[in-house]
Amino acid sequence: MPNASTQIARRAEKLRRELQEHDHQYYILDAPTISDEQYDRLMRELQELESEYPGLMTPDSPTQRVGGQPIKQFATVTHNPPMLSLANSYSEEEIRDFDRRVRELLGKQLPAYVAELKFDGVAIALKYRDGVFVQGATRGDGSQGDDITHNLKTIRSLPLRLRTKDPTLRTIEVRGEAFMHRNEFEEMNRQRAAADEKTFINPRNATSGTLKLQNPKVVAGRPIRIYAYALFAPEAALASHHNNLQLLHTLGFPVNESMRRCKDIDAVIGFWKQWEEKRDTVPYDIDGVVVKVDSLQQQNLLGNIAKSPRWAIAFKFTSRKAETHLNGIALQVGRVGTITPVAELDPVFLGGTTVSRATLHNIGYIGELDLRVGDTVVVEKGGDVIPKVSGTVESKRPRGTTPFVMPTKCPVCGSRIYRPEGEANYFCENTECPAQVKGRIEHFAHRGAMDIEGLGESVVEQLVSLDLVKNYADLYSLHKHQETLAELDRWGKKSTQNLLEAIEKSKKQPFHRVLFALGIRHVGQGVAQVITESFPSISALQNAGIEELQSTDGVGPKIAESIAHFFAEKRNRDIIKKLSNAGVVLAAAKRRPAGTLSGMVFVLTGTLPSYGREEANRLIEQHGGKVASGVSKNVTHILAGEDAGSKLQKAKQLGIQILTEDDFNSLIM
Ligand code: IVH
Repeated sequence: MPNASTQIARRAEKLRRELQEHDHQYYILDAPTISDEQYDRLMRELQELESEYPGLMTPDSPTQRVGGQPIKQFATVTHNPPMLSLANSYSEEEIRDFDRRVRELLGKQLPAYVAELKFDGVAIALKYRDGVFVQGATRGDGSQGDDITHNLKTIRSLPLRLRTKDPTLRTIEVRGEAFMHRNEFEEMNRQRAAADEKTFINPRNATSGTLKLQNPKVVAGRPIRIYAYALFAPEAALASHHNNLQLLHTLGFPVNESMRRCKDIDAVIGFWKQWEEKRDTVPYDIDGVVVKVDSLQQQNLLGNIAKSPRWAIAFKFTSRKAETHLNGIALQVGRVGTITPVAELDPVFLGGTTVSRATLHNIGYIGELDLRVGDTVVVEKGGDVIPKVSGTVESKRPRGTTPFVMPTKCPVCGSRIYRPEGEANYFCENTECPAQVKGRIEHFAHRGAMDIEGLGESVVEQLVSLDLVKNYADLYSLHKHQETLAELDRWGKKSTQNLLEAIEKSKKQPFHRVLFALGIRHVGQGVAQVITESFPSISALQNAGIEELQSTDGVGPKIAESIAHFFAEKRNRDIIKKLSNAGVVLAAAKRRPAGTLSGMVFVLTGTLPSYGREEANRLIEQHGGKVASGVSKNVTHILAGEDAGSKLQKAKQLGIQILTEDDFNSLIM
């Protein structure tokens, strides 16, 4: 009977094995056999065991995937053999030259090749001793790199233990590439931008920056992947590169499936042509094909010159990078007011199209690259085919350039633009800005907002271009133009009527939907719901100060600032007034019991600060009160706004209680 501590040690070992197996199934074979939840449960159990009995921890434990302690400085690793670089070739002619040289040097032997994709990432070297991953390093200058073992351990597709019992394959070095998938890179950048963190220029920069971080816990959260493409096993009898790739796969490494053994250079050229065409079909960036002599004995014969092997070459795709002149930086206003700086370039032919404009993302991006009008800049087309300015050529900078300064006004409507605290972008918050009118109306009408059927993009386009609506509140006066509408192309009486009915119906949408529909930045559907619970009417929200907003559950400083900013704009307040006058619901359904106002009879006079007549009437009735048109002794309350006239006088004479809108709100909320 084993004692308790050996039993615990066995359990830990079993958990490690199981987790490693699941990692392999998930990350290498892409065929998981358990759910994420089950996996997490096993991981948690192992973590608990290891933290209770630290002696059980092993260097290859999967618990290290989450990242250990930060390190102060990377140790230096010497590469043996050195990590070589590849000579480049760019044309069929050059690759045939390479083949000719190889055949000349090999004399009678004919070479076969392996063609692989050339990943646009970061080279890494991985050492395994007795089957366990012990050290990982960057390429550095090829002879010496940084020890980034801690960071590499967090990469899920990197095996921490080899899947072999073969003693000649247990102490090896594997080389490969670390990289990111474009979509995961974009998502990471999006999150960074939202958190006001610097964004990365491309997946390669992001990978290289990440691997050099000192805190492996941060690395663990980044979407780094690897492919293995070279094996050094001094004790094993290895025959060919193609075999090595297969061996790497059985050892547990991710090996790219698109490699091909080619019997001659024609086959290599065919492979290259095919991938030049479909380079965008893989989810990561590739910039060419790597061509390697397959036989290791032939590789040895050929040897190296300087820092490149004679047995391999990079066969690059047509470049998607070019230099051109930055003539200006224009500002583009998006559909909801986001202002994006755009580079105006001397037209340059790049990856099949002529590029004369490219996004510069935001002011921070311009600052990071120190782009100046007049500069020679590098334009790149990534796999997403959207051209990007990726850098400036400082050596070609003319005299007298100055750093870019953000204009203060919206280039479309002239309103002041503003950059909220902690955000990357500037915004134009004029809801009537011509650049935004359509986008805002479409958002307003959208299914999750006011849900106005029939008010899609093309209809909005028509209404706006005919000047029938200038903002979303104008939709509620559209009925005045019924005849004009019915005469329009593709319209008729029936569709006009349907649209007007849908607009009318939308007035009854609950307050939280209206709040979302207003298009206040950061006020999404969820936030709108939360807000209406604490601020049950538009006036309550409008009158709330930033502090009050911020101290509300679920409302952070960003949201609070954005709301305050929205209401500070007179044009926005006017639009809300219009909505109110039209009878759009601008308060949450009663929180008090239905009968709060029962027995009370109200007369409305003057203009209320935020409720329109219809809205006020509806609220009174909803809470069980009655509305009368004239003052009599039956009337119990007067709801009085600005410029109240004779009704107020009369009510005073009769001693009827007079309420302001605020008084009224406190009655019903
Ligand atoms: S083999 C001597 N295979 O290209 C052999 N390299 O300039 C060199 N690379 O730093 C490595 N994909 O980071 C090889 N399938 C692939 C590759 C590849 C990308 C990178 C690698 C290296 C550079 C060579």
